[in-house]
Amino acid sequence: MGHNDSEQLNLNPYWMPFSHNRYYKQDAAHRVHRMLARAEGSYYWTTENHKLYDALSGLWCCGLGHRHPRLVEAVKQQLDVLDYGTAFQMGTPGVFKLAERIAEAAPAGFEHVFFCNSGSEAVDTALKMALAYHRARGEAHRTRFIGREKGYHGVGFGGISVGGMVANRKMFAAGMLPGVDHLPHTHNLKEMAFSRGEPQWGSHLADELERLVALHDASTIAAVIVEPMQGSAGVIVPPQGYLKRLRELCTKHGILLIFDEVITGFGRMGQPFAAQYFDVTPDLITFAKGVNNGLVPMGGVIATKSIYDTFMTGPDHMVEFFHGYTYSGHALAVAAAHAALDVIAEEQIYPRVNALSKTLEEAVHGLKGEANVIDIRNCQLAAAVELAPMEGKPGLRAIRVFEEALKRGVLFRFTGDIIAMGPTFVSTPEEIGHMAEVLRESIRAAG
Ligand SMILES: Cc1ncc(COP(=O)(O)O)c(C=O)c1O
Repeated sequence: MGHNDSEQLNLNPYWMPFSHNRYYKQDAAHRVHRMLARAEGSYYWTTENHKLYDALSGLWCCGLGHRHPRLVEAVKQQLDVLDYGTAFQMGTPGVFKLAERIAEAAPAGFEHVFFCNSGSEAVDTALKMALAYHRARGEAHRTRFIGREKGYHGVGFGGISVGGMVANRKMFAAGMLPGVDHLPHTHNLKEMAFSRGEPQWGSHLADELERLVALHDASTIAAVIVEPMQGSAGVIVPPQGYLKRLRELCTKHGILLIFDEVITGFGRMGQPFAAQYFDVTPDLITFAKGVNNGLVPMGGVIATKSIYDTFMTGPDHMVEFFHGYTYSGHALAVAAAHAALDVIAEEQIYPRVNALSKTLEEAVHGLKGEANVIDIRNCQLAAAVELAPMEGKPGLRAIRVFEEALKRGVLFRFTGDIIAMGPTFVSTPEEIGHMAEVLRESIRAAG
């Protein structure tokens, strides 16, 4: 399909998600290299047959590379056997086995998995679990959630309420969950610009939880939810000791700690979960994206034995948790997830990510000193370069860089004036190096 073919499309009916619809649709020049046709491994090809290195693994979800043959084959085979199997009061061997494998990959004590279809649903599920857990324990007064400024927990009303993205919050202010408060974010360029890995400064920001406890009283707080490493806000890396401190305070006050591992789960940290990488164990873990390489929508929550057991009371013919989705544990998603877990083991993805992370760190920090680069940060196989905003036009410099990079064959993700990178786990060191050089050229060209 050539560029002209895509010009025959009626672009209007499709309301693009999280996109500048008018900019994209109004001018063909704005769409150059922005109509995807196919993908393989770490690359996309556009409808003009322009090859693009995928610097964000889809949207952080295709770490094993696009159309991995093992995953494609698993889904094809599943289609020949069972398409959709109703999830309520019924099960499939595959979904039970997958829960067992995911629980095995999680830190000790995590023994139960609830499936849904996205990160947003995973977050809403975890929040509901936290409320219902306290209620079952006779502490129904624990109803507050504590999120964090700049946090991203998807787009459900629960997720935007605990999230800290202003643009997501202001438009839907009327629908926010009541009783939510926020920890301060940990993004401070003055103190931590150009840190490699976890910044030394900032663990004291976790102590703000004490202030919130003093304000609201611990007996009203159900859970704290954070992304152990923040992806969507532009790769904000937790300060050294910060997560451990949060854990201590949550334990002290009987508050559940939820790690939203939608980006960090299943590979990006060189460990199954960030909980293991940072050696901090929460009470609930959300996941999505990497669980099956983004092949079929899937998300979920992993719960500790003690949380699950708390629900398992009352008459045993009664539903214990009034929650679930039509597509919870969809057979195609389950098949893809089994194949993804096989590939992670067989292709030694975790050691590979650990090795590749060092290459990424060297490559991105090599951009220090370029004009308008005000911060570079990295955490395992995630990195970001923050740019100085153009006078009076925040966000425009990053769009320019994004467009310059597209011309040069790399698809970056931008958020505000931050360029984020989350390369595929199967990238070569040369590809990582090339990506960084394209970013350098694009920053220079964007002016
Ligand atoms: C930490 C985190 N939570 C939740 C979500 C929402 O996931 P989804 O877009 O699948 O609903 C995301 C998406 O990027 C995320 O990064």
